[in-house]
Amino acid sequence: MSMTSTAESSDLYTARELLFCQTGIYQDEQMRPYVIFNMIASVDGRGAVNCASATDRRVMAQLRANVDAVVWGGGTIRRDPIALRLPPDLEHRTPLAVIWTRSGHLPAEHPLWQNERSERLIFTMTATRELQDIPAEIRQVDSLLQMFFVLWRDYQVRTVLVEGGPTFNSLLLSESIGEEIFLTLAPVLKGDDTPAILQTGLTSYLQLHCHSVKQVKDEIYLRYWIGGLCVESLPRRQ
Ligand SMILES: NC(=O)c1ccc[n+]([C@@H]2O[C@H](COP(=O)([O-])OP(=O)(O)OC[C@H]3O[C@@H](n4cnc5c(N)ncnc54)[C@H](OP(=O)(O)O)[C@@H]3O)[C@@H](O)[C@H]2O)c1
Repeated sequence: MSMTSTAESSDLYTARELLFCQTGIYQDEQMRPYVIFNMIASVDGRGAVNCASATDRRVMAQLRANVDAVVWGGGTIRRDPIALRLPPDLEHRTPLAVIWTRSGHLPAEHPLWQNERSERLIFTMTATRELQDIPAEIRQVDSLLQMFFVLWRDYQVRTVLVEGGPTFNSLLLSESIGEEIFLTLAPVLKGDDTPAILQTGLTSYLQLHCHSVKQVKDEIYLRYWIGGLCVESLPRRQ
């Protein structure tokens, strides 16, 4: 584990630091891509998408440019005007845009549907005609894990960046899907009822191993490897 203080103007992570595993992960007797999460939270643990600084946006772009696909849950797409645009020096590696929606309810108009540089793929568990006007390929699967198997097998996706939201993150982690977390700690206390970066739903806590801690002015950039599910229940603080 390393702790560094980085100048605001330089990239936080070197290209070498963002070389993710290219072989994939063996799970349930099949291969799936290597999965990393990128989230931002306030110091009081609330999801804090509106607090992103220029450095945080650059980290997001760097991560996007170093994976084969970026995946969002349908709740985030319905709520946020996400656009998978990368800065000119990184746009040569625009990843596949993937959306997961169990029900198939997605907005007909969204900035993500306008990006000509990126291919789009929607995975759903429901046969629905609602998605037919969206300019994306639609795949129906039986489970979240199957989506990842299909990404690896049919689209040669070896690395996936998950950009939330909290329900989707919990669903993945409870299925043991996820190898790393990049977490930006924004220097704010929100004090409201914004959900955390993870919805409730994990039966046991997950052990994390700190990979690096970087500081830019008042922001902290944490990177963790995700260990296995711990069998004990959460320890109580005395
Ligand atoms: N802090 C951060 O870094 C960050 C990052 C991203 C998003 N966010 C915030 O998170 C919020 C949205 O998060 P969210 O939790 O509402 O939604 P979400 O996590 O983006 O989406 C949840 C997805 O899971 C699906 N789902 C729900 N239950 C399921 C089940 N049992 N099996 C399989 N799939 C299931 C939903 O399907 P349906 O489509 O059918 O509902 C939906 O596609 C927004 O406010 C956004 O701003 C914060």
